[in-house]
Amino acid sequence: MTVINPAFAQMGEENAFAVLARAAELQRQGRDIINLGIGQPDFKTPPHIVEAAVKALRDGEHGYTDATGIAPLREAVAEDLHRRLKVEVSPDDVLIVPGGKVTMFMAIMMFGENGADIVYPDPGFPIYRSMIEFTGARPVPMPVREANGFAFSAEEALQLMTPRARLVILNSPANPTGGVTPKHEIDKLVAGLAQWPNAAILSDEIYGQLTYDGLVHRSLMSYPEIRDRLILLDGWSKTYAMTGWRLGYSVWPKAWRDVARRLAVNSYSCVNAAAQFAGIAALKGSQDSVGAMRAEFDRRREAVTAGLNRLPGVRSVTPKGAFYAFPNVSRTGWKAKPFASALLQDAGVATIGGPDFGVHGEGYLRLSYANSLENIERALERMQDFLSRPARAASGL
Ligand SMILES: Cc1ncc(COP(=O)(O)O)c(C=O)c1O
Repeated sequence: MTVINPAFAQMGEENAFAVLARAAELQRQGRDIINLGIGQPDFKTPPHIVEAAVKALRDGEHGYTDATGIAPLREAVAEDLHRRLKVEVSPDDVLIVPGGKVTMFMAIMMFGENGADIVYPDPGFPIYRSMIEFTGARPVPMPVREANGFAFSAEEALQLMTPRARLVILNSPANPTGGVTPKHEIDKLVAGLAQWPNAAILSDEIYGQLTYDGLVHRSLMSYPEIRDRLILLDGWSKTYAMTGWRLGYSVWPKAWRDVARRLAVNSYSCVNAAAQFAGIAALKGSQDSVGAMRAEFDRRREAVTAGLNRLPGVRSVTPKGAFYAFPNVSRTGWKAKPFASALLQDAGVATIGGPDFGVHGEGYLRLSYANSLENIERALERMQDFLSRPARAASGL
C-alpha cells in the first residue's frame, strides 16, 4: 500500500476555517449567523491599493518575479520599517511571501527536528504547534495568562529555555487574546536570551499596527543584540485588510536568508506579481485608512468588552491590541468548546473555543470584533438570551 510520510499525521489545522465553513453552511440553510469567528478585517482593501494591482495587470505584469519579491517592494518594506520602527533593514534581507503564515512555516521547518525544542505561546496561533509537531520537534508551550492581561512573562519564558531550545516564537499584539506585551517585559526577555545564543527567535508582529490606549508597539527588531538570530514575520493581511491577497513579508538574518529563498524556490516560486504592486501602493500611499480602521476597531473593542462583562458568568480583560476579545467563560458552567458549538448552533453566533489555541485556552472563547458595531451588539444580546436560559446552561455542565 502507498504510505504517506507519517509526519503528516502530526499536522494539525486552524479551527477558525472549520467554523467559517460551518457558519456558511448554516447561512445557506437560511439561518442568520453573526460571525465573530474569523480573524479578518471586515473592511475592503483601500481603493488605491486595488487600483495599483489592476494597473499592474493592465501594464502586463504577468510573469514570474524574483523569488524574493520585486526590488521596489522589498525597498518599500525596508523604508516602512525605518519609518515605523526606526530600524535599518537591508532590502536584501526582506523576503516577500504569500501571506504571513508562510514565514512561520519556513522558520519552523528550518529549526524543527527530532531532539529540538520550540517554545511557543499558548494560547497562541494554532499553526505554531501544528508545524512544530510536524517537524518532530518538541512543542514547549509558554503560558499566556489572563492575570498578566495576556502579555507573556519573560520570567516564565526564560524558565522554559534549555540547551535544546532551537526556536522561540513570540507574538505581540497577540492572537487569540489581544494581549500586548509591554516594553519592560520584552527588555527582560531579550536580556535573558543572551544566555541562550543558539536559540533563534521568530517574532510574529502581524498585528503590530493594531494597538490601543496609546500603547506603542514594541518590535523585537528594536534590539540590535538579537538581530543576527531574529526572524520578523509581518505582512499586509491585517493592517491593510488584504487577507485574501496572500501577501506577507519576513526579515531574515543574513545567515538564513538564502535558506528561506530556497524554500520559496522549492515551493511557490514567487508571489503573485500584481499583489506585489498592490503591496507597494499600500506602504507608500496614504496611511489614513490604517488609522481609520484602527479607530473603528477601538470603538468596537470598547463595546465588546463592556458587553461581555455584563453577561452572567463571563469576564473579559480589555484587549490592548489586534481585534480579538478573549473572555473567561469558565463560570458560565460551560466548557469552552461545547459552549462555542452551542452558541453557533442555537444562538447563531460564531466564536472559537479557547482550546483550539492550546491547552491554556480552556475556559475562554475567542471573539473577533472585526464585525460591525451593530452585529456585535446583536451577538451580545443573543449571548445574553442564551445564557439566561436555565436549561441550556445546565446542559453544558
Ligand atoms: C498571529 C498570526 N500570525 C500570522 C497570521 C497569518 O496571516 P496571513 O493571513 O497573512 O497568512 C495570522 C492570521 O490570522 C495571525 O493571527
